[in-house]
Amino acid sequence: MKPLNNNNQENDMLISKSNGACGARIEGIDLSQELSSEQVEQLRAAWLEHHVLAFPNQTLDDDDLERFSQYFGTFAGDPYFPPIEGREYVAELRRAADETTPIFAEAWHSDWSFRADPPAGTILYGITIPPVGGNTDFINLHKVLEDMPADLRERLEGKIAQHSAKLAYAPDGLYGEREKDAKRGMKILYSEDAYHVETHPIIRKHPESGKEGVFGTIFGYIVGIEDTTPEEEQRLMEDLYNWQTRAEFQYSHEWEPGMLVMWDNRSVLHKANGGYEGHERVLHRVVIN
Ligand code: SIN
Repeated sequence: MKPLNNNNQENDMLISKSNGACGARIEGIDLSQELSSEQVEQLRAAWLEHHVLAFPNQTLDDDDLERFSQYFGTFAGDPYFPPIEGREYVAELRRAADETTPIFAEAWHSDWSFRADPPAGTILYGITIPPVGGNTDFINLHKVLEDMPADLRERLEGKIAQHSAKLAYAPDGLYGEREKDAKRGMKILYSEDAYHVETHPIIRKHPESGKEGVFGTIFGYIVGIEDTTPEEEQRLMEDLYNWQTRAEFQYSHEWEPGMLVMWDNRSVLHKANGGYEGHERVLHRVVIN
């Protein structure tokens, strides 16, 4: 979507950094209105700097969500959950108050990193937010690399990771046939396609900012590392995971109803959290290239 050159909103955006390793809160902007090219530019720069942007107090419908998303990219789609009725690119994350299935997306991951061209960003809009729990946690993958001990970096340098959706979305995966009779609030699809493997360097430059970082994680779609023995591969994946998931690289995002959050899959990992048993949680989601 092409931004307007100007609109009626005064540019009094307020950007406040989170107290974690990434993330910022953006106030003073109404996302139900068309944004000016200056506003989009400013937001894009903030997104590249902070990696996760949270916009509280927004009243948005799915048209607004789609319009906002298109300021930052083209629709990428979700391969393993169907869109909501009447939309091609909006999916719903829904968990009923009495649901007992494992929390969806509770492992660290970068969205759809098993694609040849993984999506740049994910945008979630909080519709029903539980009064407790349900945070989304993030890891800053630039910091992970910046502070990495030299010996671990040396072991990872030049290594190519194999990414696949199989552990989650294959027929024998976490959300596969074993969930056939489960009562899940959101529909998750599984498929033989999930066995497909794509490769990406573990250390790579962010395609937009050029800043180096780590890409991906074990359990979040990395299933192997090329040109290593099985023992080296396992040890390296575990050592990387143990380093990435240290508390100092994390930011735990607390949701508010009517909050929109957009994150950069190229520079962060994320994971969902439970802790809201007895409460419903509903968010709408768009993924962009
Ligand atoms: C996700 O998109 O991976 C889920 C995030 C969440 O539900 O907090």
